[in-house]
Amino acid sequence: MNLTPEKRRMLEGEYGYTIQKAMEILVGLGECYDADEFIPVQSAHLSANNPVSIGDPGIRFIRELAEKEGRFLIFTDTNPITVLPQKFREIPSQEEWSQKQKTILDVYSKMGAFLANTCTPYLIGHLPQFGQHVAWSESSATVFANSILGARTNREGGPSAIAAALIGETPAYGMHLAEKRLGSIEISVQMVLKGVADFGTLGYFAGNLAQDGIPVFTGITPPVSLEELKMLSAACATAGSVNMFHIVGLTPEAPSLEAVSKNKKKGLESVQFDKKQLRQTEEILSSAETSDVDLVIFGCPHCSIQEISYIASFLNGKKVNSEVSLWILTSKIIKGYARNMGLLKIIEDAGGMVIGDGCQNILPSGFFKSQGVRNIATDSAKLSYYQRNLQNVHVHYGSTQRCINAAINGIWR
Ligand code: F3S
Repeated sequence: MNLTPEKRRMLEGEYGYTIQKAMEILVGLGECYDADEFIPVQSAHLSANNPVSIGDPGIRFIRELAEKEGRFLIFTDTNPITVLPQKFREIPSQEEWSQKQKTILDVYSKMGAFLANTCTPYLIGHLPQFGQHVAWSESSATVFANSILGARTNREGGPSAIAAALIGETPAYGMHLAEKRLGSIEISVQMVLKGVADFGTLGYFAGNLAQDGIPVFTGITPPVSLEELKMLSAACATAGSVNMFHIVGLTPEAPSLEAVSKNKKKGLESVQFDKKQLRQTEEILSSAETSDVDLVIFGCPHCSIQEISYIASFLNGKKVNSEVSLWILTSKIIKGYARNMGLLKIIEDAGGMVIGDGCQNILPSGFFKSQGVRNIATDSAKLSYYQRNLQNVHVHYGSTQRCINAAINGIWR
């Protein structure tokens, strides 16, 4: 990298230990990806904020940064943490687990982070503008920021997001460069998509095909809801290492297919997505072998207030089946709105739980099995993929309405 004299002094330790460490991480990354220079970033989003992601070595690292006066230079917030609903709290080592989580949050708070604890920071005001450079980790949020907001971020790892937050800059490579934001494959949608699960299914299909490329969707007709775009973003990042997508005629950088095609002369390879591909992908995402349901989870990524309101409208005056638990994950800010609007009471009266700050992926391995959970129902392709692999449970995957019915009836149909 071409380092300015000031950057060189930062790397050599003249500005202190934490700046030197951050520079070592960023320069290493920049050289690895052939970046020429640094660019300023406006904000950071940290996912290295729970004991599962960073472990004891990570906790020691961030503690040391905080003790040596490491402070975030730009607006920095945090991803979901490990939170267990009351009913599920009796697990071995819970005390030690909670203590580690608390330590991590205390450290980040000392360094100046806003403890948002959500994977949908854009729903609570952390909303970069079009063209702004940021340093976000959390794959679903990264894809949303690049694709829907037109902000520019790589899919940062834990250390690189922390380093960028300390310096306020990041090496200019990957998604920060206009030429790296062009589409690599067209996904021609030949059906009308209905609801978040259809968009999640499409995202999983596209991510699988695009891998580390950029899918360009054609044939999606507005209106498309914020929640559908949120689910599409999460699913694209799940099946592949997709950093962004375009929807021709809808996302801000895609006025036409040609405008976002990597190969202007030849155009892009085009793959069709219709009812057949939808069904096949749903089958891949559904692993449950019986119709039993033990736990229904919404909110991966964290629910918007509209989603909570929609779920509450169907639960109003009804009861969740006594054999089933219902979790709705969201940020504590949105949970506050739900409380003020009376939605929390409706959901709790029905026997469901709204969990602020939490993520089902940040639980000790084997946790669900130890609690007798064998089959989970969800409308999230990301949740389906990860829970099968992380917790070794079976998953029913389908529409929001189907999941609500499963919570009430205790059976998947
Ligand atoms: Fe969010 Fe956790 Fe899902 S971070 S996107 S709820 S896996």
